Amino acid sequence: MTVLIRGRVLTFHADPAEVADAFTYLNDGAVLVQDAKVVAVGDYAELRRDDAQEIDHRPHLILPGFIDPHIHFPQVQVIASWGAQLLDWLQNYTFPEEARFADEGHATRMAGAFCDQLLTHGTTTACAFASVHPGSVDALFTAAEARGMAMLGGKVMMDRNAILAVQDTAQQSYDDTKALIERWHGRGRITYAITPRFAITSTPDQLAAAGVLAEEHPDLPIQTHLSENLAEIDFTLSLYPQARDYLDIYDRFGLLGPRSLMGHSIHLSEREIARMAETGTRAIHCPTSNLFLGSGLFDEAGLRKAGVVTGVATDVGGGTSYSMLQTLNEAYKVLQMRGQNLPALQAFHWATRGNAIALGMDDRIGRIAPGFDADLVVLDSRATPAMALRAERMETLAEELFLLQIMGDDRAVVETFVAGKPMKARA
Ligand code: GUN
Ligand code: ZN
Repeated sequence: MTVLIRGRVLTFHADPAEVADAFTYLNDGAVLVQDAKVVAVGDYAELRRDDAQEIDHRPHLILPGFIDPHIHFPQVQVIASWGAQLLDWLQNYTFPEEARFADEGHATRMAGAFCDQLLTHGTTTACAFASVHPGSVDALFTAAEARGMAMLGGKVMMDRNAILAVQDTAQQSYDDTKALIERWHGRGRITYAITPRFAITSTPDQLAAAGVLAEEHPDLPIQTHLSENLAEIDFTLSLYPQARDYLDIYDRFGLLGPRSLMGHSIHLSEREIARMAETGTRAIHCPTSNLFLGSGLFDEAGLRKAGVVTGVATDVGGGTSYSMLQTLNEAYKVLQMRGQNLPALQAFHWATRGNAIALGMDDRIGRIAPGFDADLVVLDSRATPAMALRAERMETLAEELFLLQIMGDDRAVVETFVAGKPMKARA
């Protein structure tokens, strides 16, 4: 079936921080979709055809679906847990909650709700940490597959410094991960991500096992956490006294490279930043989480200057919103506190094509262009009375995007298309 989606189309082919001509904006635009892919994008008058079903989203904006490159699916009932910094938050709220995912009925219900929350908020792809239980990965990917979503994820490998109910062993984590890769990786739109939780909860044997998996499957992403919180860093370095610094721990086990995603990456030394740039390792900024847990302020400008590829993510449930709009709002404020800035065009690039680059998927998602997957979000910059009032005084596209970035949330998401199918109402 051929579908023509009409509205104001905005898509980025480059980073507005780097080049002036970074995006395409069509005031009366349309996206022609066939078999889950974009086949053409252009002016409505040129693309209209009798055999296409038309979906009219004027006067709203049509963008590539948001991409969330760091989120924890078993934390849907941890979000908004009061008053703690990272390490006690993990022990007191997070690990006990993740233990409940041993129950496959619970995991299945939460996985469906998780995917629906993503879609409600305009996010079409996420890279998710599951729990330690392989069944939680089955639940996550089954829910994503049922909705047609391009989902990345993996079971956390964790064999120490947590309650027993969420621990595996080095060997078990290797065997379970191996079996999950065989079952899921490359099936439809599913990508398996090798997922050692972080150095505190992995013995050297387990990080070595993760390194072996990475060597055996060089095409797979690796996701973990790096330098989020000062107490975390101290404890980590005490566990790995031979390492030069936090990043060096992962380096020693072969866990760096262009497919490696380092959540948080806040308190880094010059050496670590240079090594991330040299290896192509990605830094993922999680602003709502970093403010909520009091972790610190991400140095976007410093990492950019050094040539580190970055992404921006929710980190639910340390993060406090599924909305990438609210995430960009908080990212703006984090950079303000750093004396840096985040112009709206740059912010929307970051949450779409920028995150696709971070995930190494920018040949398929993150843009509206022929051959790309038809994952789209439709945004209404007058979604609430307060937004409509502000919109009366708005003159440029950049102003409209900034209004969405600061005041927008799921109410501003009119529709979310996954592989060409409207999903918001269904979610
Ligand atoms: N570091 C290790 N695990 C986690 C987690 O679940 N959330 C956050 N924010 N940091 C972590
Ligand atoms: Zn995280």
